[in-house]
Amino acid sequence: MEKIAARSLSVSGPAVGAAPKAVLFDAYGTLFDVYSVALLAEQLCQGRGEALAVLWRDKQIEYTRLVTMSAPGGERYRPFWELTRAALRFAALRLQLDLGRDGEDRLMNQYRALSAFPEVREVLEALKARGIPAGILSNGDPAMLGVAVRSAGLENVLEHVISVEAVRAFKTDPRAYALGPQTLGLAAKQILFVSSNGWDALGATWYGYTTLWVNRAGLPPEQLDTPTGTPTGTPTRTAASLREVLGFFPTTS
Ligand code: LAC
Repeated sequence: MEKIAARSLSVSGPAVGAAPKAVLFDAYGTLFDVYSVALLAEQLCQGRGEALAVLWRDKQIEYTRLVTMSAPGGERYRPFWELTRAALRFAALRLQLDLGRDGEDRLMNQYRALSAFPEVREVLEALKARGIPAGILSNGDPAMLGVAVRSAGLENVLEHVISVEAVRAFKTDPRAYALGPQTLGLAAKQILFVSSNGWDALGATWYGYTTLWVNRAGLPPEQLDTPTGTPTGTPTRTAASLREVLGFFPTTS
């Protein structure tokens, strides 16, 4: 644990009030390294792998917003897995890459069993040791989340795996974020929501969670102010590493 605490230096943002009582993590890009598929993409289409992975991810998120905003009753909802495949097809067409059915299937299978970032297990184990319940709140559908959690070997350190499928609306729809407080029986403020996606950290902040934006890529903060100019326009804290989660839960000894 010492090793973890010593690395919590790159933190910014206001101090938290009362310590949160639970943690919910975004899955893709936060616990699971989505850009690890770039390696396989590079093997399949040399020199274009990274471009494919980035465009694939962007299109996937765009599709989640498209289906959610176009039909608030959930009529256009499709599982994240289907949107992910559609986004891959678009990205390949856009870059004029012929993946073939085999290449497409291989990339989708790679996406199914993504690696977890290296620090994930130690952070989840440390939370468990401190008695803090941890879970996932993700756009992923239950089947794909189940496979991802199992293949990363995280079943015994996650108490909740919450999918937005329950409300047929993707983040940042408030109904998706509402699943956290509903499932945990806590107020949003009492839950630390952790995401490496700036837009997700901001959406969760606006919803009312205590938030940590894990800015692994060193991106600039989102530039949207709230009309009232309240401090809710920025995540509670920003850090470079997922290890900063533990900074919210100091050990008592
Ligand atoms: C998720 C995506 C947004 O896991 O990363 O919800």
